[in-house]
Amino acid sequence: MRLTLIAGSAHRTLAQAVAGRLGTQLADCEPRRFPDGELHVELRESVRGADAYLFQPTGPPVDVHLIELLLLADAARRAGAARLTAVVPYFGYARHDRRAGGREPVAARLVADLIRTAGLERVVAVDLHSAALEGFFSVPLEHLSAVPILASAASPWARADGVVVAPDLGATKLAERYADRLGLPVAIVHKTRLSGEEVRVQRITGDVRERAPFVVDDMISTGGTIEAAAGALLAAGCASEITVVATHGLMVGQAEERLAGAGVRRLITTDSVPPRPAGRLAWQVVSLDALLAETVGRLHRDESLADLVAHG
Ligand code: R5P
Repeated sequence: MRLTLIAGSAHRTLAQAVAGRLGTQLADCEPRRFPDGELHVELRESVRGADAYLFQPTGPPVDVHLIELLLLADAARRAGAARLTAVVPYFGYARHDRRAGGREPVAARLVADLIRTAGLERVVAVDLHSAALEGFFSVPLEHLSAVPILASAASPWARADGVVVAPDLGATKLAERYADRLGLPVAIVHKTRLSGEEVRVQRITGDVRERAPFVVDDMISTGGTIEAAAGALLAAGCASEITVVATHGLMVGQAEERLAGAGVRRLITTDSVPPRPAGRLAWQVVSLDALLAETVGRLHRDESLADLVAHG
């Protein structure tokens, strides 16, 4: 079965880098819009009998990128692809995994269902908001972890007086995984979300006084969580060198300014969504290209991914 890589418009640079590592090229396809706003995608080369991988992080604008992924999947399935896998380095709507109040959808479950309905038989994702999301997928999920590559990028700044900080309770396990790799203790910030952009810190568990914090999270969206955590850490007497490490650097709106203004010294993220540094921070981007190329290569050859997947 031949290998075919198809990329939507969300992050062709990353898809091209993966294709380059696999010694192949992206299949020819280009989405365009009808005057009424409907999206049209067309594969301009045959995928019949192919082992096809659709690359599309569903970052902002989330709905546009999600629909494009679903349309590409439907096109590839109807064009006779033998095997169809979605490679979704950032999975939008993952945070909507339950109803916080009444009369709300469970969007993450709906998106997982749409992916199956579109004919995708397998999903590759990276550091999902919660590992329990796997239960939402009725197709196999390969849940990769960027923690090893991010921890190794952060390690040059990990001094003995460092501390890995979870900016909320949900990030505790993630913080423990970084702490194991960096050989540092863990502290936890207890936060309450007030709105989409604002959070309040209640207290910090663990010793942060005069320690250099590595604040770790799965994603940064508006920067509100990190801004609040950094403020609380400085108020608690941490060392001024704050490093933030997150897999998904969405950095919407004024996020970069908010982090810089909160005293964050450096930011390390992957390129799961296209990074757009505005120059307000020392922002180091670690590419997922090698991890994704290795994953696609092994899936194509039906080899184990045991050492690449996230646990817990
Ligand atoms: C929440 O539980 C997530 O792990 C992130 O902490 C949060 O979504 C980041 O969003 P923002 O940057 O807008 O605070």
